[in-house]
Amino acid sequence: MSSEPISAAIDALRTANTITVLTGAGMSAESGVPTFRDVQTGLWAKYNPMTLATPEAWEDDPALVWAWYQRRRAMLAAVEPNAGHQALATWARTADVRLVTQNVDDLHERAGSSDVVHVHGSLFACRCDTCGREHDAEVSDPEGDRVLPPECECGGLVRPGVVWFGEMLPQNAFAEATARSEACDVFILVGTSGVVYPAAGLPHIARGAGATIIEINPDETDLSDACDITLRSTAAVALPAMVDALASSHDT
Ligand code: OAD
Repeated sequence: MSSEPISAAIDALRTANTITVLTGAGMSAESGVPTFRDVQTGLWAKYNPMTLATPEAWEDDPALVWAWYQRRRAMLAAVEPNAGHQALATWARTADVRLVTQNVDDLHERAGSSDVVHVHGSLFACRCDTCGREHDAEVSDPEGDRVLPPECECGGLVRPGVVWFGEMLPQNAFAEATARSEACDVFILVGTSGVVYPAAGLPHIARGAGATIIEINPDETDLSDACDITLRSTAAVALPAMVDALASSHDT
């Protein structure tokens, strides 16, 4: 395998039939979306996402939690997919590239990717916390830090359709993510610290099935040792460079 990580990645990808890509918050960082473990800014600096994204916080103060997710939806409406999202969408037009994301944003879809598996749910998939009925997500930037969530016809409260700490992952989504990890020749990890299971177990499943594991992350992570190739770079730089280099290698 070539010494240069990018050449080694191209060598592995050139002969791959199926590629699975698992993205984390770092994928959206260059779009201006703070990663999960970034310090929150402004009004939300005083709140810790780790405590807000929990069933207990919802039970205790649904208006605060609902306002935080409203704020996150409004923030997303103001940003665009970055060159990394675009590169993945372009690449999937000519290769069997399957996307799994831990992110609850819609930037992959807005870049043109389809059939994206969201293992932690989506900011835009709200549901009743009692009967489970699906509800549309309002996208309005809250004035303050509390907004009463809408009520469902059944009398329950409309909650964000995301996975909170301690909650089970959507079964179908995780089953599909596992299948995509088992079926790929190359598994690419982009922008995840790899600290939250079971999503962080997907690269191990891929490795166990014989896939080559590539990590794209400017920093070392808990998963770096399990990777065959590491591109110490960012999503918006490394992905376009890799996809372009792969396209040129096919032309030669
Ligand atoms: P984290 O915030 O834990 O990690 C973000 C990773 O992205 C870090 O390893 C950064 O080094 C890396 N990173 C930062 N900027 C980057 C860039 N421009 N390009 C590439 N990588 C970059 O976010 P996640 O790993 O996604 O779960 O967190 C996993 C889960 O933890 C989240 O889905 C969330 C949280 O609990 C739920 O909401 C259930």
